Amino acid sequence: MKRAIYPGSFDPVTFGHLDMIERSAKIVDELVVGVLNNSAKNSLFSVEERVSMIEEMVADFPNVKVASFDGLLVDFMKKIDATIIIRGLRAVTDFEYEIQIAQSNHVQNPDVETIFLTTNLQYSYLSSTIVKEFASYGGDISKFVPEQFIQRIYSKYNR
Ligand code: PNS
Repeated sequence: MKRAIYPGSFDPVTFGHLDMIERSAKIVDELVVGVLNNSAKNSLFSVEERVSMIEEMVADFPNVKVASFDGLLVDFMKKIDATIIIRGLRAVTDFEYEIQIAQSNHVQNPDVETIFLTTNLQYSYLSSTIVKEFASYGGDISKFVPEQFIQRIYSKYNR
């Protein structure tokens, strides 16, 4: 069985992430969306909030699970018996950072392979940072995130 992980901060999860989850879940047997619990990073949503938002979003996908992790991704992958990392490439600017992570994870554990999917053109501009920037000014984020999350995001900015 091919178990893959789609790791990230997901702060908050966007339509771009959802597109990646839908498409990669068709390629592998089981997909674990791995939410990084990074205490050093000042996140808008707690790890529990981020996990539950993604769980809501993937409730209808039978082979997708959501889990949080801290520490090294390769260590978490060993724990859950996953060998594939899924990452999205939006543009060439993502490539330099992504190849560095992919190579170093492969050096750490040669059984670990990274599969890159190019993001849907429709979402190639989209990032959690963009969502937060627009939301912080009360801007329209309805094209960025599922409707049920809009108010939850605004409320973080007292809007
Ligand atoms: O959504 P992001 O912030 O671009 O995701 C980055 C992520 C979570 C994939 C990366 O930071 C990660 O794997 N962190 C866990 C710690 C780790 O394994 N570091 C070594 C590879 S960078």
